[in-house]
Amino acid sequence: PTRIILDTDLSMGAGADVDDGFALALAHADPNIQLDLVTTVNGNTDVESATILTGVLMDRLKVNAEATPLVRGAETPMMYSEKRRIPAAHVSAMKGTARQPVAGKYAALAMVEHIMANPGEITVVAIGPLTNIATAILLEPRIKTAIKELVIMGGVFFGSMYSHNKPGEFNVFTDPEAARAVLYSSIPQRWIGLDVTLQVRLTMEDADSLKKSPSEFAQFAGQASATYIDYQAVRFPGRPKMTSVPMHDPLAVACVSKPELCEYRDMAVDIVTGDVKSRGMMIGDRLELPDPPKPNCRVAVGVNAEGFRNHFLSFMQTL
Ligand code: BDR
Ligand code: CA
Repeated sequence: PTRIILDTDLSMGAGADVDDGFALALAHADPNIQLDLVTTVNGNTDVESATILTGVLMDRLKVNAEATPLVRGAETPMMYSEKRRIPAAHVSAMKGTARQPVAGKYAALAMVEHIMANPGEITVVAIGPLTNIATAILLEPRIKTAIKELVIMGGVFFGSMYSHNKPGEFNVFTDPEAARAVLYSSIPQRWIGLDVTLQVRLTMEDADSLKKSPSEFAQFAGQASATYIDYQAVRFPGRPKMTSVPMHDPLAVACVSKPELCEYRDMAVDIVTGDVKSRGMMIGDRLELPDPPKPNCRVAVGVNAEGFRNHFLSFMQTL
């Protein structure tokens, strides 16, 4: 199996996005993936809530605590530290009810130690903002050649897509400096962006059938998904009512053991940083000129949505 570190801003169970939770579940369920370490980051929710909710989910999934430590990560983006997420009251109430993160340990450091102890072995799967990974690169630049691969859910490359009323993609515009540091790191990296992740979805029918499953995780995940699908109507008023939720992060995990689910193109990509309106936007070089800039990453340009659906749902039924 491919040994991975999963870096997440999981918020499943807080009435928020559910895809990080499904990504964790898929990484746990897929026998071709070995989950070595789970780290959390400020993103969809504040890092404390993300850590609590990840602990809750790892308990529900019965992830072995010794084999897969949980380590808390960055509390703010690299710049503009006021952009920290605000904890949700009902999450703080869950504090202490689930497994705890490793005391006194920091995600970036745990990543460095694990990667340096296993050179060439570890794939880092990033499904939140890239703050922890950029910090790990600063702490120990030798990880650049020791990481096997980075698989990132992030970015939007083939159109001006908006999420959260901002141009671009959440994991990038939440910490563009970190994302840019990762892009320029020369670590082999695959970016699975919104262009493809919006094509893979969990429907209300899927959520209903999960709710009826005997598994505790499936019931919880089905309920959380149904709540979130309904909530999207409140969050995006005026848009046609959505009856499904995109599985952004699970697609990145699926592409670890089944890279062939996506088609890729090598690309030279940059990210706008600084205090400007276009902060967080990505510039992917798509011109086919005779002397193109050197690619710094691989970008997913197409997805076998049906193939993903079969892969994903068949594993969810085993949980
Ligand atoms: C990304 O942002 C989050 O809302 C999702 O979990 C995913 O990682 C999609 O833009
Ligand atoms: Ca995420």
